[in-house]
Amino acid sequence: MIGQGLLDRIAGDLAEAGIAHSHALVTDSNVAELYGTDLLNNLKESLNQVSMISFPAGEQNKSREIKSFIEDKMLESGFGRDSSVIALGGGVVGDIAGFVAATYMRGIPCIQVPTSLVACVDSSVGGKTAVDTPHGKNLIGAFYQPWRVYVDTSTLKTLGPKEVAEGLAEIIKYGVIKSSDLFEYLEANIEKIYEFDDLTLLYVIETSCRIKAEVVQKDEKEQNLRKILNFGHTVGHAIEQLSDYTISHGEAISTGMVIEGKIALGETGWSRQEQKRLISLLQRAGLPTEPPQDINAGEIIDVMKIDKKVRKGKIEMALPECMGEMKKNGESYGIEVSEQTIISAFKL
Ligand SMILES: NC(=O)c1ccc[n+]([C@@H]2O[C@H](COP(=O)([O-])OP(=O)(O)OC[C@H]3O[C@@H](n4cnc5c(N)ncnc54)[C@H](O)[C@@H]3O)[C@@H](O)[C@H]2O)c1
Ligand SMILES: [Zn+2]
Repeated sequence: MIGQGLLDRIAGDLAEAGIAHSHALVTDSNVAELYGTDLLNNLKESLNQVSMISFPAGEQNKSREIKSFIEDKMLESGFGRDSSVIALGGGVVGDIAGFVAATYMRGIPCIQVPTSLVACVDSSVGGKTAVDTPHGKNLIGAFYQPWRVYVDTSTLKTLGPKEVAEGLAEIIKYGVIKSSDLFEYLEANIEKIYEFDDLTLLYVIETSCRIKAEVVQKDEKEQNLRKILNFGHTVGHAIEQLSDYTISHGEAISTGMVIEGKIALGETGWSRQEQKRLISLLQRAGLPTEPPQDINAGEIIDVMKIDKKVRKGKIEMALPECMGEMKKNGESYGIEVSEQTIISAFKL
C-alpha cells in the first residue's frame, strides 16, 4: 500500500486482519526517534502486546549479532508463534527484521514499513532478506515475502539528499530495464523528488514497486528474468567492493550502469543517444558517472570473476537493448561479455 499518512492505518489494519497476537516493532536508532515512538503509541491503542526493539543505525549492524539481539529480546518478552515483526526503517532494518521473521519459530508474518527511498522502491519488495558477515554482504539470509508493505511517503521528508540519490539510482534503473515512460517522467520531473513532491513520489514509487513485483513474481529465485534487476550491479558491485565500501551502493551502480551501457553499445543495439540520456539523467540526480581514478578495468574484471554472476568462467551481464527493454539472448537475459569488450568500454 502506498500513500501519504499511511502509518496511522497500520494499527487498524492489523487489528482487523488479526494476523498476530503480539507485535515486535523493529527499527533503528534514527527511525525510532523520528517515527518509531509515535507508531508504537499508535499501535498500542488498537493491539494487545506491542514492543519496540531498536538497534544502532548503520550497515555494520546488519549482522548475525544484532539478529540474535532482536531474537533474544523477543524471546524474553514471550513472543510466540502467534506474533509478527513490523520492520520500520531503511533497507538495513528491512533486511534484518525480515530475516528474523523468516526464522523466528520457523517463520512468523512480517510487515514491511520502509522509510528510506531505497527501501520503498527496492528492499521492501521482492522477499530477499539477509545479514552481512565478515566474509561479505548478504551472505546469510532467506527468501521470505512480507505479509504487507506500507509505504508512507510523508516519512521520506526527513531524508538527506544523499539518501534520496541512493534511491534514485535504482528508480532510474527501473526506467532503463522496463519502462521508457518512467524514464521520460523522470527526465521531466526529477528535481521534484528532491522537493518531496507527494504526487511525484507516489508515481515513481508505485511504478518502481510494480516493476520489481512483476519481475519477482515471474522469477523469484533469479533463474532468468530477475537478472534484469542487476543492470549496473555487475560492474557496480565490483566498484563498491574495490573502494572498500567508501563508495555507496547507489553511486557504484550509477557508474556501473554507465559502463554496462557502454558495453551494450557494441553488443545489443543500445544507441549513443540513449546512453547520453542515461548519463544526463544520472548527473541531474547528483550521481557519479565516471569510475574512480584509482580503479581500473583489470581490477574490476578480477572481482567480477569471483562474483556470483559468473557462469562457467564467463562474465554475464544484463544489458539494455533500447530504453525500457533488456536484451535477450534466445530465452536468456544473461549476456556473455568478453574481457576485451569490458576493457574497451572503460576506454570509451
Ligand atoms: N533485500 C533487498 O532486495 C535489498 C535491495 C536493496 C538494498 N538492500 C539493502 O538495504 C540496505 C540499504 O538500505 P538503505 O539505503 O535504506 O540504508 P539504511 O537502512 O542504513 O538507511 C540509511 C540511513 O537513513 C536513515 N533513515 C531511514 N529512514 C529515514 C527517514 N525517513 N528519515 C531520516 N533518516 C532515515 C537510517 O537510519 C540510516 O541511517 C543495504 O543493507 C542493502 O543491502 C536490500
Ligand atoms: Zn541495488
